[in-house]
Amino acid sequence: MIINSSGSSAARVANTALMVAANRFFSSTARSAVVAGDPVVFAASKGLGFSAPNKWGHLVRAPSMVRGFSVVRNGSTLAMQEEKENRSAAAAGGGNKEEKKLMSYWGVEPSKVTKPDGTEWKWNCFRPWETYKADLSIDLKKHHAPVTFLDKMAYWTVKALRFPTDVFFQRRYGCRAMMLETVAAVPGMVGGMLLHCKSLRRFEHSGGWIKALLEEAENERMHLMTFMEVAKPRWYERALVITVQGVFFNAYFLGYLLSPKFAHRMVGYLEEEAIHSYTEFLKELDKGNIENVPAPAIAIDYWQLPPNSTLRDVVMVVRADEAHHRDVNHFASDIHYQGRELREAAAPIGYH
Ligand SMILES: [Fe+2]
Ligand SMILES: [Fe+2]
Repeated sequence: MIINSSGSSAARVANTALMVAANRFFSSTARSAVVAGDPVVFAASKGLGFSAPNKWGHLVRAPSMVRGFSVVRNGSTLAMQEEKENRSAAAAGGGNKEEKKLMSYWGVEPSKVTKPDGTEWKWNCFRPWETYKADLSIDLKKHHAPVTFLDKMAYWTVKALRFPTDVFFQRRYGCRAMMLETVAAVPGMVGGMLLHCKSLRRFEHSGGWIKALLEEAENERMHLMTFMEVAKPRWYERALVITVQGVFFNAYFLGYLLSPKFAHRMVGYLEEEAIHSYTEFLKELDKGNIENVPAPAIAIDYWQLPPNSTLRDVVMVVRADEAHHRDVNHFASDIHYQGRELREAAAPIGYH
């Protein structure tokens, strides 16, 4: 390996010794300073590959083709990086060269992914193997009749929450959807986090429920990212979200600790309300009271929708998602009602 193209052998030895000492004793900043002047040593970092779920839901190293999307793994050497930078700078009219050097050094540079048509995959917030076609055949009318005291409490808590929501938003369904998704994305994350901590505390598996609940949170957040494209929040709406999140996160956290049976049942009913809200949204679209604008690009890619899809198509797939969340949460509550733990039943991972 060439250490320093211009130095004598003594200089090479000194440089190598400095590198070893830097790696062993110095901070990352100091190490960077040592290697920064030597492209070849600097290039010893390695790139991160991709992982994609196989048919059993396990993450596997991505091959060169992932579900029809070609994946090009980037080289990790600075030399290769600089060559690429020159190409991308020429294409994009410049870029942050220092940032790219840093990414190359740590090996965390995202790989390039392209669509089947050869165009670049432009979303960093989700990758092609996380996209799916929504199951629109799901029964939207399924309802869990509240029988026990806890169920009735969950049901009426949700009904009570709907009243101020109706008053505040009235028929502004785009805005309503955007705001409600900021709340809907909380329970999955809180539940997943608490199950994660429980798994660590008890030295036991979660049965896949951590992943299933985090998937739900991610899916809800994608709903929000989608509706952000059709309704921009005003300052007082942002303030409301901060306030509501502060209260709801902590309330749900405590509620889940005290009774996951109640917490999941409540989310099941929240999802039933979400289905109702999106049905009303569709009615307004069909009446022409809300303009059926073209679907946002993020939605077309996430739900694998046809390019000419509209807002109506997006609301349809989001409503189908909510129906799936309803089933997952009522199912989770039912498991607890049977006196079992969630990990004893296989989690509905990838249930869309
Ligand atoms: Fe949602
Ligand atoms: Fe939902």
